Amino acid sequence: MKIELYPDVSSVNEENLKDKIVVVIDVLRATSVITTALYNGCLEVIPVLEINEALALRNNNTILGGERRGLKIEGFDFSNSPLEYTKDKIEGKRLVFTTTNGTRAIIKSRYSDKIFIGSMLNAKFLAEYIVKFGKDISIVCAGTNGIFSMDDFLCAGKIVYEINKVKEVDMTDFSALAYLTYIKNKDNILEYLRYASHYRYMLAIGLEQDIKYCFQEDILDTIPIYKDGKIRRI
Ligand code: MLT
Repeated sequence: MKIELYPDVSSVNEENLKDKIVVVIDVLRATSVITTALYNGCLEVIPVLEINEALALRNNNTILGGERRGLKIEGFDFSNSPLEYTKDKIEGKRLVFTTTNGTRAIIKSRYSDKIFIGSMLNAKFLAEYIVKFGKDISIVCAGTNGIFSMDDFLCAGKIVYEINKVKEVDMTDFSALAYLTYIKNKDNILEYLRYASHYRYMLAIGLEQDIKYCFQEDILDTIPIYKDGKIRRI
């Protein structure tokens, strides 16, 4: 069993993902939102690439959520803040969701038959679940605008760390580096994040509470899986 890691969505070769278990990460904030919404009773999340596609899917039981440049999209119900997706707002609803990087990475991974959504919030539960398949694992970091993002890399390291706690696996050099980076920084994640440009952008637009929320570890036992265009809990 081997774990490989893609630094950002532009480095993904779809063909290579086919026989792998795929985990997509956009820790700030798309995959944290998806995990939270499903935990709070959302029926399913439909990731789409474009704003127009989302608007066309609106109906009575649908919430439109997402962001562009980190901000709420005009005409949408919710932004990309996980704090908005509370039980009273999202339970029993369908979420149509479009973000700059996260939904793109999920859709790009669609050729694999098992695609999971990872975050710090569900890392341990997800790792314990996927190890049971005994198959090679590809972790896809969404990155930011086609560029490597330190925040996703740390979350990838956390997932590799949790997988290794259950079963010792082969790691590519890059996934081993993520693993070591997580171990080195896990007791002071905010200090590490100070160097991450996406983190600094989120801070600059006033999203400190979202960041604190997204970097809580193992608080949600939800394991989202993407299949046939929809993300649901397993
Ligand atoms: C994205 O998908 O690009 C991110 O989640 C960005 C954000 O949270 O604003």
